[in-house]
Amino acid sequence: MEEPATADSLPDFAGHGYLRVLRTLHEVLQPRNYFEIGSFAGESLALADCASLAVDPDFPFEDMAVVRRIVSKPRLLLFRMASDLFFQRHDPAALLGDKVQLAFLDGMHRCEFLLRDFINTERHCAPNSIIALHDCVPVEEPMTDRSYLARPPIVPHRRHWWTGDVWRTARLLRRMRPDLSFTTLDAPASGVVLVTNLDPGSTALLDRYDEHVRTMLGWSLTEIGLRQHAAEMQVEPTSDYLSSTFRNLGCVAEGVCQSLQESGRDLDDLRA
Ligand SMILES: C[S@@+](CC[C@H](N)C(=O)[O-])C[C@H]1O[C@@H](n2cnc3c(N)ncnc32)[C@H](O)[C@@H]1O
Repeated sequence: MEEPATADSLPDFAGHGYLRVLRTLHEVLQPRNYFEIGSFAGESLALADCASLAVDPDFPFEDMAVVRRIVSKPRLLLFRMASDLFFQRHDPAALLGDKVQLAFLDGMHRCEFLLRDFINTERHCAPNSIIALHDCVPVEEPMTDRSYLARPPIVPHRRHWWTGDVWRTARLLRRMRPDLSFTTLDAPASGVVLVTNLDPGSTALLDRYDEHVRTMLGWSLTEIGLRQHAAEMQVEPTSDYLSSTFRNLGCVAEGVCQSLQESGRDLDDLRA
């Protein structure tokens, strides 16, 4: 049910859910590999049919249908640890035997964690790889608390929604890395940001990491406004993304669009 927008609450996003966005990315891009930070019950990990590497301090998989899909991949590597420790000890591209092609960063929902996850992941990507970020467009402020579900929601059905303050990371990336290309989709509950045109050699974020964290923590969503943040993120409808957004995602997507056209299929055929 759609809630009216108020100063302290936006309506629920009306697009396709984030899992459907991810599933479509897999279907359209057919990446050779998938890297995920934050797996929880395995629903996002289950969507990848390619060689996959996932990092989480815990993997509480319970649903056998999900588990079957997860273990049916050609290669599966699970690292039961926090992402910082993973990157200290391991090289995801070396483990996968290739640059990371598609990544989903959905681990600790605090802005400095997501910034580190992004910096550490980009180093192992190709320029046309895609890094997807979750939960960067909150629809009300209580869900943005840095502590898990610390405040009750304004809209009752959002009581389990927690984005933390990773909205700050997406805002920082847009400001400090104009060389990156961003597509923000209105996937409920709080958006998916697709980042490409990556620069694995860039040190712009790492060199001024402390300053960037201070900058992020200095931002107030109350002062910025939820609507203004969403506007700055240039949120687009997921319903358009198959036909137009993917065409702008970069070489990988263009290659897929080209081969679909040659085979006489339209991207709309891929809609479920
Ligand atoms: C929102 S859940 C992930 C949901 C999953 N991606 C999905 O769509 O089904 C967040 C996960 O991040 C994990 N997490 C928390 N801190 C982390 C860290 N420092 N490094 C890696 N994962 C972390 C949690 O254990 C939790 O399983």
